[in-house]
Amino acid sequence: MTQRSKTEASLPPVRIAPSILASDFARLGEEVRAVEEAGADWIHVDVMDGHFVPNLTIGPSVVEAVARSTSLPLDVHLMIESPETSIAQYADAGAHTNGVHAETCPHLHRTLAQIREAGARACAVLNPSTPAQAVEPVLGDLDQVLVMTVNPGYGGQKFIASMMNKVRLLHGWIEERALEVDLEIDGGVGPETIGRCAEAGANVFVAGTAVFGAEDYAGAIGELRKAALAART
Ligand code: DX5
Ligand code: ZN
Repeated sequence: MTQRSKTEASLPPVRIAPSILASDFARLGEEVRAVEEAGADWIHVDVMDGHFVPNLTIGPSVVEAVARSTSLPLDVHLMIESPETSIAQYADAGAHTNGVHAETCPHLHRTLAQIREAGARACAVLNPSTPAQAVEPVLGDLDQVLVMTVNPGYGGQKFIASMMNKVRLLHGWIEERALEVDLEIDGGVGPETIGRCAEAGANVFVAGTAVFGAEDYAGAIGELRKAALAART
């Protein structure tokens, strides 16, 4: 039997964050309430500008409408160019966390500070081709790091398993420095892949298709949580 190095209580909490990108936008409020009742921890909101990523989704007014539909924290993922120009708008709209892509922020340290000044948690996001080293110098200046396990832009893509090395590296730095930084995974997370992410050190899991594509939202969220908890070390 393998010995667990840590007790569950000493590990950061597992958070399951359904991505509304895979929900029925015609019934958005209802869908958000349904996943809240089904046991979701956070709501993941994908903002895409049609420039940084090919797809175009929603802006601050829809984020504000989602915030009115739930008491859960909103984890806002900004896939937009020059995010520093609209960070305050998203924070005012109800973003609990604002995630900005390192690739869009030449002055990442400053942008993370702006997010905190606007009253939100600061998250830096890494595309699959961006190394962990892009955020290493600012790990003490953020609340969360998001490792993309697909190229951003669309839901329903295949999980890129080779990203787990990056997750392990980030997890090691966070532990060594005793930082309170959540480590999040986004893209292709489902019952077959979530265990690998948790084993590598992630504690926040975005799931679009795996939740909203299921008949039974509570069953899907429960299955993800169980698989994540079982794989933690
Ligand atoms: C992709 C988005 C994801 C997406 C995940 O650009 O950032 O949040 O909704 O969808 P699934 O879970 O279906 O891969
Ligand atoms: Zn996302």
